Amino acid sequence: MNPERPLTKNIQPGGGPLAIDEYEKRGGYEALRKALKMSPQQVQEEIKASNLRGRGGAGFPTGAKWGFVPMGDDAPRPKYFLVNADEMEPGAFKDRFLLEGDPHQMLEGAIICAYAIQADIAYIFLRWAYKLAGKRLRRAIAEAYEKKYLGKNILGSGYSLELDLHVSAGRYICGEETALLNAMEGRRPVPRSKPPFPQVSGLWGRPAVVNSVETVCNIPHIIKNGADWFKGLSLSNDCGTKLYGVSGRVKKPGVWELPMGVTIRELIEEHAGGMQEGHSFRGVIPGGASTDFLVKEHLDVKMDFDSVQKAGSRLGTGTMIILDDKTCPVGMVHNLEKFFARESCGWCTPCREGIPWIKKVLEAIENGHGETGDIELLEHHCRLLGPGNTFCAFAPGAVEPLQSALKFFREDFERHIREKRCSYR
Ligand SMILES: Cc1cc2nc3c(=O)[nH]c(=O)nc-3n(C[C@H](O)[C@H](O)[C@H](O)COP(=O)(O)O)c2cc1C
Ligand code: SF4
Repeated sequence: MNPERPLTKNIQPGGGPLAIDEYEKRGGYEALRKALKMSPQQVQEEIKASNLRGRGGAGFPTGAKWGFVPMGDDAPRPKYFLVNADEMEPGAFKDRFLLEGDPHQMLEGAIICAYAIQADIAYIFLRWAYKLAGKRLRRAIAEAYEKKYLGKNILGSGYSLELDLHVSAGRYICGEETALLNAMEGRRPVPRSKPPFPQVSGLWGRPAVVNSVETVCNIPHIIKNGADWFKGLSLSNDCGTKLYGVSGRVKKPGVWELPMGVTIRELIEEHAGGMQEGHSFRGVIPGGASTDFLVKEHLDVKMDFDSVQKAGSRLGTGTMIILDDKTCPVGMVHNLEKFFARESCGWCTPCREGIPWIKKVLEAIENGHGETGDIELLEHHCRLLGPGNTFCAFAPGAVEPLQSALKFFREDFERHIREKRCSYR
């Protein structure tokens, strides 16, 4: 297996992040120097050639996304680049690891991204609860300005960029990229209809690109080492490395950088140390709370975008939540739907009303008040909230754990209703 771990090589768990001098000593900001000698078009081409897919959940190709931005002297100004650091999905903590552990890596990446689309202004949209990340980013931004990596005429290149940290009030929907833009504008953070796409008309009607923290952290390494090197890091068709996380009743929960395409089995048994004594594996939500459960027969599925989708779920954030044999699947799904019911932005009726309804039915089943027909009612809601029926991808994601739990753990729901109690308690 390729031992290179470019994204996390500077991170010392438990220790603070590198100050700018140390980051530079280890090759930091060399990629920015290189990028500034390339044309923005060449930077875009290199990222396209690398096949980097966005790490924020949807896996959209980064180079293609940038390719929609109007370029040249006639392009509307100012143009914006935004880093999505809103991470709030239950189970996801990988962006926090990158932000706290190596803020300069993300800043260097953001400056290169901004250069590639010729943005004038960049923002880091940070979840309010990430206080330590905020503190470390503020220091890194000040250091980068001092060294002229930010501001007017960066390193004498003629390119100028202002970058600011925006601390969000903190709702899950703010992570959806068009809701994020509304939040930046001081509006109610509900998603926007597309088209127009943000790359053409994003922030205050001007072109804007939103990329996730992990995507941005990949950029300096691709520019420094080239697209072919990036492809060579992976075990599958999806290129590069990936930050994977495992939580639940495993011996060593955590987050690791590994080649894209490691199997679920390897992640659980080798990196997370296997299940805790007295607990056995029953299922996994592979990509954070808004993805479908996979079960034992899927343990050898590769954790990359295409393989997980083929298996019936989504890679999402790559942060897995394990269900063990002593945890009630109804209780687990109820807990997740409670989160989604609270976080619905309320813009469209099926989501605003439907998810709280799901939560209520699950609560009743879990507490021994379930009735015949409840399972069919839940299935009905899953269909109504599925893709295409709501304004954004929040609702289809919210019902993914439920619809798959009804498929794989149906006997648990039936037993709760039949016996009028939860047998796990
Ligand atoms: C409800 C919802 C919440 C989201 N939250 C986040 C988030 O916290 N962080 C993130 O990077 N992307 C999040 N996304 C995905 C973004 O909308 C967007 O696809 C992503 O920031 C694009 O960056 P990428 O192309 O680099 O992956 C969310 C999407 C939805 C539908
Ligand atoms: S699906 Fe839910 S989160 Fe998305 S716009 Fe509709 S109400 Fe808001």
